[in-house]
Amino acid sequence: MITLSHVSKCYTEGIPALNDINIDIEEGEFVFVVGNSGSGKSTFLKLLTKELEPSEGTITVNGVNLRKLRRKRIPMYRRNIGMVYQDFRLLKDRNVYENVAFAQRVIEKSPRQIKKDVPLMLSTVGLAAKYRSNPKQLSGGEQQRVAIARALINKPKILLADEPTGNLDPDNAWDIMSLLDNINARGTTVVVVTHNMEIVKAMKKRVITLKKGSLISDERPVV
Ligand SMILES: Nc1ncnc2c1ncn2[C@@H]1O[C@H](COP(=O)(O)OP(=O)(O)OP(=O)(O)O)[C@@H](O)[C@H]1O
Ligand SMILES: [Mg+2]
Repeated sequence: MITLSHVSKCYTEGIPALNDINIDIEEGEFVFVVGNSGSGKSTFLKLLTKELEPSEGTITVNGVNLRKLRRKRIPMYRRNIGMVYQDFRLLKDRNVYENVAFAQRVIEKSPRQIKKDVPLMLSTVGLAAKYRSNPKQLSGGEQQRVAIARALINKPKILLADEPTGNLDPDNAWDIMSLLDNINARGTTVVVVTHNMEIVKAMKKRVITLKKGSLISDERPVV
């Protein structure tokens, strides 16, 4: 589903942000990506969304060779990828319902479909009761649930999360990670960048470790 073959990314001269990376992620997998600050984790995610181009190598996602993907096809390609960030990135002047519905309006879903999909998605993330709240009335964990609902509302095949628990306390961090685990159990491929090694150890998922741009380990849980 996601394949990187000899992928390198240099922003400037000198040490590459990613160096000769080879990764294969199967459909339905849950993968953690860990490593020190500056090791290339966010760069890796940005290559998958085609926010960045690799300096070398080939990236294939959902059968699409990203190098060959035309500019005008990029928005369509990105519909298959949900993104979640550390700082939530919600629309502050709109309520919970509107934040999620917005993602559907952008791709011109019918009002009828939106009325059906949004409440269902909000109950999946445990926020059905707060649909009229404004983001600033929500806790960090709740705001992250809204962001996850928004990322998933158009049913992407892949969910990418860049430090989704970075701004959360331990309880909320656990809740968000279990939510991502549930979403994965329903069939979405999930890739999570995190510094939270306690959760990584406990969840027993595949763990890819980057160090200064190199992949230094790729461990699958023993079953
Ligand atoms: N736009 C950019 N221009 C130049 N260098 C960059 C750019 N973005 C990132 N880098 C460099 O590339 C390397 C990898 O950065 P990246 O953001 O991928 O790290 P990261 O693993 O996500 O770190 P963190 O855990 O702090 O988020 C770093 O050395 C960083 O300074
Ligand atoms: Mg980062």
